[in-house]
Amino acid sequence: MTLSHGELLYEGKAKRIYASADAQQVLVEFKNDATAFNAQKKAQLEHKGRLNCQISACLFELLERHGIPTHYVGVADATWMVVQRVEVIPIEVVLRNTATGSLCRETPIPQGTALDPALLDLYYKDDALGDPLLTDARIALLGVVSAELRQRLEALARQVNAVLQPFFKDLGLQLVDFKLELGLNQAGELLVADEISPDTCRLWDLSSTDANERILDKDRFRKDLGGVIEAYGEVCKRVQGACPEPRNCG
Ligand code: TMP
Ligand code: ASP
Repeated sequence: MTLSHGELLYEGKAKRIYASADAQQVLVEFKNDATAFNAQKKAQLEHKGRLNCQISACLFELLERHGIPTHYVGVADATWMVVQRVEVIPIEVVLRNTATGSLCRETPIPQGTALDPALLDLYYKDDALGDPLLTDARIALLGVVSAELRQRLEALARQVNAVLQPFFKDLGLQLVDFKLELGLNQAGELLVADEISPDTCRLWDLSSTDANERILDKDRFRKDLGGVIEAYGEVCKRVQGACPEPRNCG
């Protein structure tokens, strides 16, 4: 179904953003497109949009119940979400509780090393540059965030981890790492934005010890493991089992 919406404001790899009748809000359509390695690998995965929309809605509401501000307003349909209009800060915040992925490709840290406190990495959000890892000096040079905003952004990301990690653990899922995007609304409030889903989190099934079988996130697509949608469906089922039905404002 296509919702009534205003002009297309932005199309990303996994979502389209449309204007809505309310100038303070926008509509997000979650697409079935899957991409990896900066869109060098692409596929259409039926149901992905719906699953990521519903999982994100539940997780945003969970954060909200813990007093963490997010851009989420409500769902409008299976693949549509209403969110506050924010100016997205061009920084991707990655929290790592367990070493894997780029951390293990780029450093000698062994796969599976527990990281406590979580390692927080900041990347510059720019597809043309391949989202490069930032350093303190590069952040200062780019002037991309003030020291004060950076401190708030990092504190907020750690609060999100402190809510999500035990939540997923109770569902039998290990929150290995995840990526957050944050934005400022018109009132200048810092909010968690974008989505929180198996596209942006690594989740391992705690009931499996097999290094591939346990993967319930986009690594199934990145590594050609198959069963991508089945894995997202399993995450959705567990998350929905622990959360109220997302509020509908369509
Ligand atoms: P990485 O190990 O490839 O740096 O990924 C860390 C986390 O960030 C992982 O949960 C996947 C997520 N991620 C995104 O959401 N978008 C991206 O473009 C990349 C590279 C990673
Ligand atoms: N989201 C990124 C891309 O499309 C990378 C990834 O998640 O692996 O290409």
